[in-house]
Amino acid sequence: MKKIVIGITGSIAAYKTCELISRLKKKNYNIEVIMTKNAAQFVTPLTFGTLIHKPVLIDDFDETGYQIKHINIVKDADCFIIVPATANIIAKVAHGLADDVLSSAFLAATCPKIIAPAMNVHMYENTATQKNLDICKSYHIKIVEPEIGELACGYQGRGHLSDIEDLLDAIEYATYPHPLAGKHVLITAGPTQEPLDPVRFISNHSSGKMGYALAKVARQLGAHVTLISGPSSQRAPYEVDVIKIQSAQGMFKQVLSYFDFQDYVIMSAAVGDYRPLEYSDQKIKKKADEFYLKLGKNEDILSYIGKHKTKQTICGFAMETENVIENAQNKFFKKNCDLLVVNDLFEDGAGFKTDTNKVALITKNFVDYLDLMSKENLAHIILEKLMKVKGE
Ligand code: CTP
Repeated sequence: MKKIVIGITGSIAAYKTCELISRLKKKNYNIEVIMTKNAAQFVTPLTFGTLIHKPVLIDDFDETGYQIKHINIVKDADCFIIVPATANIIAKVAHGLADDVLSSAFLAATCPKIIAPAMNVHMYENTATQKNLDICKSYHIKIVEPEIGELACGYQGRGHLSDIEDLLDAIEYATYPHPLAGKHVLITAGPTQEPLDPVRFISNHSSGKMGYALAKVARQLGAHVTLISGPSSQRAPYEVDVIKIQSAQGMFKQVLSYFDFQDYVIMSAAVGDYRPLEYSDQKIKKKADEFYLKLGKNEDILSYIGKHKTKQTICGFAMETENVIENAQNKFFKKNCDLLVVNDLFEDGAGFKTDTNKVALITKNFVDYLDLMSKENLAHIILEKLMKVKGE
């Protein structure tokens, strides 16, 4: 079980740390909490103690058991995050001050460290705070930047504690090994929309969930990740470059512009095979009882990159409704893939909108049948398989 130490300082955003802790608990982390006395003015220690089912650490000199608490608490920690972090704790960390239990424990910790600031915009933008943050970065402390928004003090600007999802991603990144460090991974996701007129398009049911899960996990494993996505309501994973496109032609253009320097390309998008050959600038009015559309074939992006690959390891996806494995094996060879992930649309829990998937992995000489699992777990397995295929 991975151990996360959470430091909480005196900002109104302290209440958001409750949500972060309960999300981390669900992910099975062992959590320790240290609060400053000012933090306890905003949320009581009892709240956090109840969430983690143990006492939180506030006063270093309450010596029950005569252990050195600020040292013990960081022993074997996998990550230490201060959330929310005030200008004061940032200044202390930057200058190595250790005048209370939180600053002492942070100085004593040798695990990956994260600071998530939250404060008034002018305090955040003050040169002193920015310089202190630069010093923290130079000590390899990860800063999860606050967001722009309406602040509790009434001001508008940067200072809002970062999104909980980004904090979770940053913590997970800190606790994972990074076998893909220095590698470039290009992932396509979601549907494409092939426009017909200003209000209509041809598309499919893809939600983008699989591609976004792959992007998130590839980043956690250390890669530089570029995600080329059709329209999708999925959240952009933390520190993943997301490029939004609409049509298959738009996706093809973007894939080509990133392709040369990629180590891995994963085509999980449900790319439209055909597009309307004529686009009407005005809304098409209904007239005749029957209406025929003339469609033209889109470039098969996966086939194209399969043909032109140099160093890239390429993963395709296939969704079949009959002769699943036979069709997928044909696609694997026809499109010159290194790995093909195939699912059967009629299988329970598999397919477009679900959070789970049940697939088989096709490689040159092998078919690997996997159980039903979450798309995030599957993303891990696919990336591990790709690394194996590449010999890494
Ligand atoms: N794909 C692509 N470009 C297209 C169509 C599909 O790159 N124009 C990619 C998808 O991203 C996926 C793979 O090809 O990785 C398989 O797509 P699929 O639609 O199952 O295969 P098709 O070749 O279109 O075959 P069919 O529709 O006849 O099953």
